[in-house]
Amino acid sequence: MKRTIKDLVGLKGKVVLVRVDFNVPMDEGGKILDNTRIKNVIPTIEYLTKQEARVVLLSHLGRPKSFDTKKSLYPVAIELMKRLECNVDFINAVVGSEVKKKIKNLKEGNVLLLENTRFYKEEDKCDMDFAREIASYGDIFVNDAFGSAHRKNATGFALARVLPNAIGFLMEKEIENLSLAIKEPKRPFVAILGGAKVDTKIKVIEKFIEKADCLIIGGAMAYTFMLARGEMVGMSVIEEDKIAVAKEILDKAEAQGKKILLPIDHLGVSTSDRKGKIERVDKLKGDLAGYDIGDKTVELFKKEIDGASQIFWNGPLGMFENPKFAGGTRKIAEAVANSNAFTIVGGGDTVNAINTFKVADKIDFVSTGGGASMEFIEQGSLPCIDVIQQKIR
Ligand code: 3PG
Repeated sequence: MKRTIKDLVGLKGKVVLVRVDFNVPMDEGGKILDNTRIKNVIPTIEYLTKQEARVVLLSHLGRPKSFDTKKSLYPVAIELMKRLECNVDFINAVVGSEVKKKIKNLKEGNVLLLENTRFYKEEDKCDMDFAREIASYGDIFVNDAFGSAHRKNATGFALARVLPNAIGFLMEKEIENLSLAIKEPKRPFVAILGGAKVDTKIKVIEKFIEKADCLIIGGAMAYTFMLARGEMVGMSVIEEDKIAVAKEILDKAEAQGKKILLPIDHLGVSTSDRKGKIERVDKLKGDLAGYDIGDKTVELFKKEIDGASQIFWNGPLGMFENPKFAGGTRKIAEAVANSNAFTIVGGGDTVNAINTFKVADKIDFVSTGGGASMEFIEQGSLPCIDVIQQKIR
């Protein structure tokens, strides 16, 4: 068991450096499109401010190469001001004398958000000097950034090596729920995996073949699996170099008597028609490219969902960002939300989908991790969790 913030004593007046994952989707004008990750760390921040700690928040946003105002965390500070009762301040830097001064003047029970940690190349290089400099501004380190706990970076990993530390409430909940889902799944356990790339999901698919009773594969990556099964995919986007591994996975599942379901009908778009004519088809022939699952597929998948006792879902089943191709993902989201199973949903796009279709409050556990939840499922832990001190019993 890892130390949690509840194990920290004497927080009054202490500077607590809290790594959070505010890597939220934002439009060009800095409007936050989904605030799930912000909402979910509020309990940790409030707990610390109520203990009269001086809270300093650190996060990355996007993948900037250096300072880039479009990737500033300032809009997140505005959002925090609306959500927190205490004072929230922001500074457009992570290190330096101005930051030091702001932290020194930070009052007990108040919050300071630092600028995007990825404005500094030292962050992703896990630079120890950079981490030591930040550590010198604080007393304790708390990691509540589950979404980026798979990254060995300076402000998530290295800071834990140089300061007394603990995990926050969100991290604790993520570890608890995802561990339980994998170690002691309620059966039948149905895993639904969608999204664009087979490559990023191979290991997790293999894990689910081992752990789940039924694996449903949808989204663009399903076409590579369909091709590996010898089915027609028309002009759908496939990963040529992943066909062999997809076939291996299908054979392995069959040898173990595990069910893998792939789409049986589709919404195909004509790639030769200038207007992109949409057709509902069982087979993707000729110039048709698949953009969403069809109604027969929804029924096939729904049958498994309705009979499940536990469901894990990561990755949309079609191009749901376009309303014309949102039907499949929406119907599956509704089926998952209405099922009596213990339901876990993870991944930025999938969380975005359940929020768009307004079913998030019917999901038992919404993981804030995309890549992180996948890697946690594969490995049972993550580097930024491993580095946190064990609880003293
Ligand atoms: C995520 O959104 O998955 C995390 O914040 C990690 O972001 P990254 O993939 O850019 O490191």
